Amino acid sequence: MPDIKQITAKEWAEQRVFVDKIRTYFSMHKRNNTPLACVRTFGCQQNVSDSERIKGMLSEMGFGFTESPDDADFILFNTCAVREHAVDRVFGNVGALKAIKTRYPDTLIAVCGCMVQQKHVAKRLKEHFPFVGLVFGTHVVHQFPELVWQSLQSRSQHTVTPDMDGVIVEDFPVVRDGTFKAFVPIMYGCNNFCTYCIVPHVRGRERSRDPERILREIGDLVQAGYKDITLVGQNVNSYGKGEAHGIDFPELLRRADEIEGDFLLRFMTSHPKDATKRLFDTIAQSRKISHHFHLPVQSGSDRILKEMNRRYTREQYLSLVSYARQVIPDISFTSDIIVGFPGETREDFEETLSLVKEVGFTSLFTFIYSPRVGTPAASMPDPVDKAEKTAWLQELTALQQEISGERLSKLIGTTHRVLIEREAEGYLEARLSENSVVRVEGQPELIGSYAEVEITAARSWIIEGKIHSVEPK
Ligand code: 5AD
Ligand code: SF4
Repeated sequence: MPDIKQITAKEWAEQRVFVDKIRTYFSMHKRNNTPLACVRTFGCQQNVSDSERIKGMLSEMGFGFTESPDDADFILFNTCAVREHAVDRVFGNVGALKAIKTRYPDTLIAVCGCMVQQKHVAKRLKEHFPFVGLVFGTHVVHQFPELVWQSLQSRSQHTVTPDMDGVIVEDFPVVRDGTFKAFVPIMYGCNNFCTYCIVPHVRGRERSRDPERILREIGDLVQAGYKDITLVGQNVNSYGKGEAHGIDFPELLRRADEIEGDFLLRFMTSHPKDATKRLFDTIAQSRKISHHFHLPVQSGSDRILKEMNRRYTREQYLSLVSYARQVIPDISFTSDIIVGFPGETREDFEETLSLVKEVGFTSLFTFIYSPRVGTPAASMPDPVDKAEKTAWLQELTALQQEISGERLSKLIGTTHRVLIEREAEGYLEARLSENSVVRVEGQPELIGSYAEVEITAARSWIIEGKIHSVEPK
């Protein structure tokens, strides 16, 4: 276990000095009545959660929020490094900000998160994007006010991306993105070092939040009317490992399930090697834990799983799924799969296809392998060309589409209690407990309410339903 440092109210009080200075600065360098910040988040729920904290601090500095970088006095991109495509997207978006900086030189542009935690990326930003004023890594988010102030004092790009880790931030202000759905981080970092993955290199070693603080946060959210709470971490099943309090993930879930109130409890992401029978038993006995389980398998070939350092076999994965279905008959599984890992052959890929058929996932996130600088897989021989990998990916998505279609058509005529989440393309959308999204007709006032919905049609990815009744909010 690393030495874990809790960053709490004391550190936030120290940052307040900078908060006040920044508030004064932007009250004189703003384009609107209220200074505006545009925060864009790329990547996973961990980043969404970090951005909520950054927004909390920006709000204390007197900022309002805008979706449009053109209107903003402060633009911040919180970035992802998991695949090259994500990195390219950020560079494209950052490049487009140059015109804004030229037109409004007082605009402060910041880039933070996993991507800049990589030395070669920070170097590229310094050399080719000098109009970016501040670059900071994942381990110093709690020093955000101080860093902003330093960058305002500096004439050149201010870069702070230390390798230190072992930090857990508590008691800092948060502006949440939703009013009835919330993410609660329970652990940070990852110790698994899958050979393709950059996350352990940019997010540091595993560390878990104090269980009492987590349970209090969930309780407060439920009191405030939140109905859909997701516990997040790179590997939530590792929660509590090596901690003196002895509360592991199943026990944390059990205690969270006991919190008074009508809410749905979700979690992600899980690693198959740490998903135990006890975890599935806990879900089976719970009242509030979702019956959807995201369990990334990555590959169906034992040889590739070994090369990936996943530390489970195809058989072990399948037996987990089978146990889970025994104790939770309506459980639904989704997964992540990487196609074209270095050295993967057609035979290996066919093992993945056969596993996908055998499990019958509700849906899949599929990715073509993307080499990450500094990871072991990046230096493994990779003879299969991009076109062939793309063809495999298409084959896999077509198979999954067929499986999803069959699963969904079985839902027709069934009724579900769902939370109406949002409006999209003139419809309302809700998520079934097995994680598929259903579209219904209705007024936007229903968003945030529970409703009884009957499934009336299912066409490839789209499920349609009709509302039978709505519960008061
Ligand atoms: N290339 C492609 N996909 C990757 N993932 C992680 N690293 C890589 C990589 N280098 C995928 C995994 C993981 C998901 C979040 O992203 O499937 O579960
Ligand atoms: Fe990456 Fe593997 Fe850790 Fe997931 S478990 S974050 S894939 S190293």
